Amino acid sequence: MQDPLIVTTSTASYPVVVEAGALTSLPGRLADLGLRGALWLVCDAAVAQAYGEPLAARLRAAGFTVHTHGVPSGEASKCADELWRLYDWMIGGAVERRDAVLALGGGVVGDLAGFAAASVLRGIAVVQLPTTLLSMVDAAVGGKTGVNHALGKNLIGAFHQPRLVLADTAALATLAPRELRAGWAEVVKHGVISDAGLFAELEELAAAHHWDERPLAGWPDQDAELALRLTAIIRRAVAVKVGVVSRDEREQGERITLNYGHTIGHAVEALIGYGALLHGEAVAIGMHAAARIAVAMGLCDEGLLERQRRLLAAYGLAVTMPHGLDPEAVIATTLRDKKVQARRVRWVLPTAIGSVTVRDDVPEDLVREAIALRADA
Ligand SMILES: NC(=O)c1ccc[n+]([C@@H]2O[C@H](COP(=O)([O-])OP(=O)(O)OC[C@H]3O[C@@H](n4cnc5c(N)ncnc54)[C@H](O)[C@@H]3O)[C@@H](O)[C@H]2O)c1
Repeated sequence: MQDPLIVTTSTASYPVVVEAGALTSLPGRLADLGLRGALWLVCDAAVAQAYGEPLAARLRAAGFTVHTHGVPSGEASKCADELWRLYDWMIGGAVERRDAVLALGGGVVGDLAGFAAASVLRGIAVVQLPTTLLSMVDAAVGGKTGVNHALGKNLIGAFHQPRLVLADTAALATLAPRELRAGWAEVVKHGVISDAGLFAELEELAAAHHWDERPLAGWPDQDAELALRLTAIIRRAVAVKVGVVSRDEREQGERITLNYGHTIGHAVEALIGYGALLHGEAVAIGMHAAARIAVAMGLCDEGLLERQRRLLAAYGLAVTMPHGLDPEAVIATTLRDKKVQARRVRWVLPTAIGSVTVRDDVPEDLVREAIALRADA
């Protein structure tokens, strides 16, 4: 068992555990944190049977009072109606300030349940239990919570740091291959923005392992070596996020680097309709476009672009712009990005594998070139 990673911000300090089988240690860890009130387990419907029910039984056996609530799978659940259902359930069940919300699922449940915890009774504890690769390496760490508004994603929310993050990598065995692939995009992103060693490990893993249709079936029991290796890589990717949010909790500076690939990625997602591409798939396209811009600006060489493209391809991620997208619409949409300041897009651009810079002086023509050509041209 490894020591947990620790997030330390000006408002909070909490452990982040990344292990195959980590969920079994939850009762003891809650007790160690002094969380002895009732537990409000919010669970993605798709993982209720496999992980939610056994977890609730284990917690009850350890003496905890556990209430459970299922959330329908999918982005549509990050909405006011589902949020109000959580309030009705908790307030109707006499939730108290000393209680804690447990968010078991992907980023959807993490954001929704996290925001319910941030706001009910003006804030109670939340523990994030991510079950997708994306939520392990990104959404569960850093305290951003919220729901969507009809006019845009994540427009209503709050910073609410969890008391504990427990990423049980064994849960990835049941994740759909496409969801797993989308998660790899964020892992690659963390390598590019700040950890060249992680990037190199991903290259080695890709060379040694064939990512077929059901890459992790029977895992981790049937392939202990791969389980250890993958868990170590995921932990390293989580460590990047832990470091960034510890240094910049409120996105005053460095945290924007986590947005690498997201400027174009968000625009593509918004234009082709949320759901047509998974977030990670759009981010892969966005990272490729950003690297092309960086090459055109002389910030990095073609080698970086090619290494990144090859690695994304090895994890099943395409980098070509979807057919039929109007480049002018993409550019116009980037100007509506939340990271825009004084109508200047703040681009996160790679300078080397493991390092990025933020620029707000990218000529529009370079963006046009980066997205107009088919990316494999
Ligand atoms: N708070 C943040 O900092 C932050 C960062 C990045 C993304 N997000 C948010 O995260 C959300 C996306 O998260 P996501 O990609 O985890 O999506 P998700 O929560 O929708 O999960 C993806 C799918 O996987 C299923 N699933 C989850 N775990 C499973 C498992 N172990 N086995 C089988 N199926 C499983 C879910 O039912 C769902 O269908 C978006 O709403 C995004 O805005 C938040």
